[in-house]
Amino acid sequence: MPFATITGWGKCMPPAVLSNADIATFLDTDDEWIRTRTGISERRVSHVSLGEMGRVSALRALAAAGLVADDLDMIVFGTCTMDEQVPNMASWVQKAISARNAGAMDINTACTSFLYGLTTASAMIKSGVISNALVIGGELISPMMDWSNRNVAVLFGDGCAAVVLESSVREEGVLADKLGSYGDYREILQVHGMGQRYANRGWVLGDTEWNFDGQEIFKRAVHGMSNACDTVLKARGLTPDDIRLVVPHQANLRIIEAVARRAGVPMERCYVNVQRYGNMSAATVPVALVEALEEGRIAPGDHVLLTGFGAGLSFTAHVLRWGERTAPLGESDATLPPCDRSALEMVRGYLAAKRGSRLAPGA
Ligand code: UT7
Repeated sequence: MPFATITGWGKCMPPAVLSNADIATFLDTDDEWIRTRTGISERRVSHVSLGEMGRVSALRALAAAGLVADDLDMIVFGTCTMDEQVPNMASWVQKAISARNAGAMDINTACTSFLYGLTTASAMIKSGVISNALVIGGELISPMMDWSNRNVAVLFGDGCAAVVLESSVREEGVLADKLGSYGDYREILQVHGMGQRYANRGWVLGDTEWNFDGQEIFKRAVHGMSNACDTVLKARGLTPDDIRLVVPHQANLRIIEAVARRAGVPMERCYVNVQRYGNMSAATVPVALVEALEEGRIAPGDHVLLTGFGAGLSFTAHVLRWGERTAPLGESDATLPPCDRSALEMVRGYLAAKRGSRLAPGA
């Protein structure tokens, strides 16, 4: 049976930065609270569509792998904030990059969508259905954020990244994975106002209201990720000392610290960038993985532990063995169009557009 190794990677971060101080201009919050409770200092607000961020990430990942778009067998797009539901995001990217030989599918498990996608694409490669895949994790959260709710508005950001997986005879890529979901707790992280359930009930699409029990999510996240990490390490007969780097979902620094402590891995071997980007849902792990590679935190043959959680409540862990190469084979000149507004201007625009648009609150 072949393995599925990561041969390319690329991220696309929108340039506009929204600081904690910016948020404090329209919400009753402050930099001190946000930093001490979450570790977040700033996040990005995108001026382009999710598809556009996916396109740039895809072309950068393909260049790093030394492939062209027509080489691709499959595109998997992990997201819960699609630009449109039908047709899917993966086919948008397929058209944008001209990947004429690829299948195209979306996966939505909220913040774990990229990680579920990693398992899906790896399994298709290992079983011989395809021989390579592009897996994207991206979110455009800012247009559907409830910017009037300080419980959630301070936590999230926009971003995107992608990896290329290729069939390999060497034992590399995902060696063990655990996917789970605490369905009984799905109501503790719920976004009202997206989907058919809200049609004809006075909701304007995208004007959301969040059911968000932060403390319960926190506990379940630590529990789910810790157990999943334990499962995949045991499945491979590995100990925490064998793990060169943990790349966790970036939702809250305190959650990352709790998971690292329970996994027995010191924070020096845990990648953290939540301070710069906040929680980008499906984009957090691939963006962190790309940045870990850029910073030389992963060497050929290293074991890397990925773990995540999200609405559902879904949770995951993966043990990877990195392949021979940690440097990109090539670089793409794909880039976003320039941004002529500040992040705060964009957010104030969303606030103004939504004010009064929800005809029947709580419907
Ligand atoms: O990918 C999945 C996404 N979900 C998550 O990542 C959520 C996981 N949970 C968390 O990260 C944390 O539970 C939070 C960061 C959401 C909250 O931290 P906490 O330490 O659990 O705070 P808390 O909910 O207990 O709130 C403490 C206080 C409350 O005031 P009172 O009742 O003590 O007077 C809140 O009203 O902090 C208040 N508060 C805020 N104050 C200033 C809540 N949000 C804010 C805010 N600024 N933004």
